[in-house]
Amino acid sequence: MPDPSPPPPRRFLPAGPLRGTIRVPGDKSISHRALMLGALAIGKTTIRGLLEGEDVLATGRALTQMGATISKGSQGEWRVHGVGVGGLMQPREALDMGNSGTSTRLLMGLVASHPITATFTGDASLSQRPMGRVIEPLSRMGAEFTASSPDVGGGTLPLTVRGLYPAVPIEYRLPVASAQVKSAVLLAGLNTPGVTTVIEPVPTRDHSERMLRGFGAELTVEEADGERIIRLTGEADLKPQDIEVPGDPSSAAFFIVAATIVPGSELTIANVGLNPTRCGLVHVLRDMGADIAETNPRVVGGEPVADLIVRHAPLKGIEVDLRVVASMIDEFPVFFVAAALAEGQTSTRHLEELRVKESDRLATMAVALAAIGARVVERQDGLVIQGSGGEPLHGGGPIATRLDHRIAMSMAVAGLVSRDGVEVDDTSPIATSFPAFEALLASVSGR
Ligand code: S3P
Repeated sequence: MPDPSPPPPRRFLPAGPLRGTIRVPGDKSISHRALMLGALAIGKTTIRGLLEGEDVLATGRALTQMGATISKGSQGEWRVHGVGVGGLMQPREALDMGNSGTSTRLLMGLVASHPITATFTGDASLSQRPMGRVIEPLSRMGAEFTASSPDVGGGTLPLTVRGLYPAVPIEYRLPVASAQVKSAVLLAGLNTPGVTTVIEPVPTRDHSERMLRGFGAELTVEEADGERIIRLTGEADLKPQDIEVPGDPSSAAFFIVAATIVPGSELTIANVGLNPTRCGLVHVLRDMGADIAETNPRVVGGEPVADLIVRHAPLKGIEVDLRVVASMIDEFPVFFVAAALAEGQTSTRHLEELRVKESDRLATMAVALAAIGARVVERQDGLVIQGSGGEPLHGGGPIATRLDHRIAMSMAVAGLVSRDGVEVDDTSPIATSFPAFEALLASVSGR
């Protein structure tokens, strides 16, 4: 079959100020987990505010292929009829994960401790991402793997997992700060008799822990010598829940940065999840001089949430502290745009993980920012950016986004503060996490 014709590039023109009130879609990480745990509880789980992006829909389809029943109700709520822990069935066809690393790695964990075999496939971006980081602990639990390119990051998709029941509970110290690896091991532990332990030297997003407890799993978290020790007792019995998914801080990030760097902006972003393991960007921007106020703090679905009021403010360059990196890991692409408009130098380090996201985000953003007139130096583990002090960048493109939704959205934001606009080669990956992004940006920036 001939290749489908490439999507048309899209130019994001200078615009703004950003004004009004918006609501960002449901949190992607929480949405994946709500579907998965709903599929493992016996009975009906109801999910409000589920992110209906392609990544989450891929998780839903895969769970359906393994026996769960998932449907959308008339009020927009999603219903999941679960099969119970241990009840996942052998899928008849390969599980197509699209662009989604979270779907892949977490579902690999679920399959690993069920007596079933599943093949995972994905798009060109996902098929280059390292799976060795989950294959390694899940193999120790007894699952068997056949992966493509074993010399690339321990194996890539397409990949087949042969689960084992009963699997062996392990104690696993995370060699990389990864919530996906942590969650894969914990999810495998659900159907594994005994105590599965994950030790996190660097805390990562804790949505799995919160939600596992919410569904009734026996899970404890102990802090010792700066490490988090998470213990899950299997085999777990999960009770169906009514879940409300808070807004995604990683989606809000594009609007937080946009309102900060476009003069005259004042934007309210309602219902933003502010889990401390996720809101590093807000703290770092404030340290740079950003004006971000929080109102109406509350708890939604077991997660802290507030409305944010973001006003334009001049930013000063900063050295980003190693300790906040994990709590803003997905926000670096758009943070680099903010840094490109700040006064003075911003320097980031310890960001090697960005090289194995949907694209190599250090290389992709270094090339993209240089192409639109920013002064940026790429190092092995970070970028050093000399900001323009608020002067618009000249713009340009087309920018190669490499099937990476966050690169496309970040460069769209850069277009707002450019002289000639920024052309993005392909905006279609935005639908993986934030389908309404372009319409929302146009509506608040007066385009
Ligand atoms: C996620 C964890 C992070 C993050 C990803 C979502 C999750 O990945 O980048 O977008 O939902 O667990 P890593 O575990 O690779 O850091």
